Amino acid sequence: MCGIVGYIGNQSALEIILSGLQRLEYRGYDSAGVAIYEDDQIHVHRALGKLIELRKKLDGDVPGKKGSVGIGHTRWATHGKPSENNAHPHSAGRVSLIHNGIVENYIELREELKGDGCVFSSETDTEIAAHLFNRALGTGLAPFEALKDTCGRLRGSYAFLAIDSDNPDRIMVAKNATPIVIGVGEGEMFIASDIPAILGATRKVIILEDGDIAELSADGIRVENDGKEVKRPVETVTWDPVTAQKGGYKHFMLKEIHEQALVLAETFRGRLNIQDKSVFLEGMNLTDEEVSQIDRVVFVACGTSWHACLVAKFYFESLTGIPCEVDYASEFRYRTPVYSDKTLFICVSQSGETADTLAAIELVREHAKTLAICNVLGSSIARRVGDVVFTHAGPEISVASTKAFTTQIVSALVLALWIGERRDAVSAEKRGEIISQLVHLPAAIDEAVKVEEQVKEIAKKFHQASDFLYLGRGSCYPVALEGALKLKEISYIHAEGYPAGEMKHGPIALIDEHMPVVVALQNSPLLFEKTLSNLREVHARAGRIIAVTDVKGNAELAEVCEEVIEVPYLSEELSPLLLTVPMQLLAYYVAVLNGTDVDLPRNLAKSVTVE
Ligand code: G6P
Repeated sequence: MCGIVGYIGNQSALEIILSGLQRLEYRGYDSAGVAIYEDDQIHVHRALGKLIELRKKLDGDVPGKKGSVGIGHTRWATHGKPSENNAHPHSAGRVSLIHNGIVENYIELREELKGDGCVFSSETDTEIAAHLFNRALGTGLAPFEALKDTCGRLRGSYAFLAIDSDNPDRIMVAKNATPIVIGVGEGEMFIASDIPAILGATRKVIILEDGDIAELSADGIRVENDGKEVKRPVETVTWDPVTAQKGGYKHFMLKEIHEQALVLAETFRGRLNIQDKSVFLEGMNLTDEEVSQIDRVVFVACGTSWHACLVAKFYFESLTGIPCEVDYASEFRYRTPVYSDKTLFICVSQSGETADTLAAIELVREHAKTLAICNVLGSSIARRVGDVVFTHAGPEISVASTKAFTTQIVSALVLALWIGERRDAVSAEKRGEIISQLVHLPAAIDEAVKVEEQVKEIAKKFHQASDFLYLGRGSCYPVALEGALKLKEISYIHAEGYPAGEMKHGPIALIDEHMPVVVALQNSPLLFEKTLSNLREVHARAGRIIAVTDVKGNAELAEVCEEVIEVPYLSEELSPLLLTVPMQLLAYYVAVLNGTDVDLPRNLAKSVTVE
C-alpha cells in the first residue's frame, strides 16, 4: 500500500513528484524517496520518516532539482523494517525502480541473483526486481523487452516504475493486481498509484489493467498485455481532491469495507500452498520444537482486535488442539497472570501501538513466547515480540476498523494452520480444504458487499431505533459483538452483542416491538437450528429480527424475520468473515442517515496510545 508518483515532461520532476506524494500522505507511510535523471545520471535521495525528512535532505544545492524525468515513492513497509536502506527507489546498475505490492518468490530469486554476483543493500522484495531489470538490460534487450522479461520472473502483486540511465527519455511501468494510473498532460505524463496524486496537474487519466507493461515518453504511451499491443482509453476524472482520496467513496470507512476482498488476498498471498496443503509464514523464529511444546495460547488485544481474537480462539482450538484463552489487554496487564515458558501469547493489534496491548506484552515477553498479528511493520508491538504475522491490510484510515478486523481473522487462521501442521493436529485433508476455501474468499467477500443496496433500505427502516441487540452463536458470537461495536462507535446508538443462547438469561426482558435484533446465523447443521429457536423466542415477543446468514432461502428463517440478508457460503470456518460485511454496512448506513461524523466519531481515536 505504498504511494507511487512519476513524471516525464519538460518541468522539474522533483517538485511535481514531491507534491504528488504529499497528496498521498493520508495513506500513511514510514519512508520516502525519489530518483531523478539529470546530467547523464540518476540521482537517488531517500529518507526515513515523513516526507518532510526527505525535503530536508533536498534542501540546498543537491543534484536532481533540474531533471525532468523522475520517480518517487512513499513506503508502507511489508518486507524489511522501515529504514533508509529499505526505502525506495532501489537501484541496480543502470536502473532505479520503485514498487507497490509484494513479490512472493523473492527469496528464491534473490538466491539466484546472488549466485550471479548481484549485491543487495536492502531487505526488500523490491530490490530483486531492480536487479532482474538491470540484468535483462545488460543482455542487450530494449527496456520494454527487459521489463517483460523481468515481470515474467515474478509472482505476486506489483506496480513498478523504473528508469534506465541509458534510456532516459522514458519511464517503464508494469502493473499486476496493484493499481496504477497515468495522467496525460500536454507534452508531459504523470504516473501515480492513486488518482489524488495527479489531480492537481491533469484530469485526463489512463487506468492500466493487470498484466500491462507500458513505456511512457513525454508525449506518448505504448502498452502491451500478454505480448500484444493494446490501447487503453483516456478517461476524464470528475472527482474533487477529497473524494479522490477516498477512492470516490463518501467515507474512508466505506472505501475500506469495499477494499476487503483485495486486502484479504494480500493477507494470504504467498502464504498458501494448495499442492502441498500447507502454509508458509515468512521469517518465523519459533522452531518446530518450540511449537510442539506450547501448552497454552493466550490472546490479548483491545476493541475490534479483541473480537478478532475471539474468532481466532475457534481456529486455534479446532486446528491446533492447544487450550486457548482470550483476554482484554487492559484487564490482563493489571492481574498477576499465571503462565510459563510454554505459553504462547498472541497479541492482535492493527496499529501495533495500543498502550494496553503493548503493556500486556511487556509484562510477559521475558518469560514466555510472544507473537503479534499486526498491520504496521516497525510498530512498537511488532518490534517487541518474538514473531509477527503481518496482516497486509494497508493503511486503515477510518477510526472504525473494518478491513483490519477481517485480515486479522484470516491471519489467525493461517497461523493456526501453520501451528496445527507442525503439531500434527490437523490432517492434510482438512488443511487442503481450508486453503482452497481461502482462495475463494476474496470473490465471496466481493459478492457479500453486493448486499449494500438491501442494507441501505434496512438502515432507512431502523436508523431511529434507540437500542439494538446483536446475537450470534459459536464463531458468530464475535461477529455479533463486532456488529454491535461498529454501530455504537459510529452512530452513537446503544447496541449490545450477546451469545444467542444466553439471551434468555437477561436480554430477553428488553425485547418488544421497538427492539431491532440483528443476528449472525452461520450455515452450521448444529448452530443454525439452535439460533433459529432463539429467534422464535424473539419473534414471540414481537422483536424485529434482521438476520445475516450464509444459508440460502430458508423458509423457517424467513417466517420469523423482518429482513434476511444473504451472503455466499464457503465453509463454517469462513462464515464469520462473510457475515461481518453486512454488519459493517448496516452500521455505516445507519450512521450516515443519522448524520454523524463516520470516519472520525466523537470521543474515539484510531490508535489509543494512552491508558
Ligand atoms: C481503538 C480503535 C479500534 C481498535 C482498538 C485497538 O479503540 O478505535 O478500532 O480496534 O483501538 O487498536 P489496535 O490498533 O491495537 O488494533
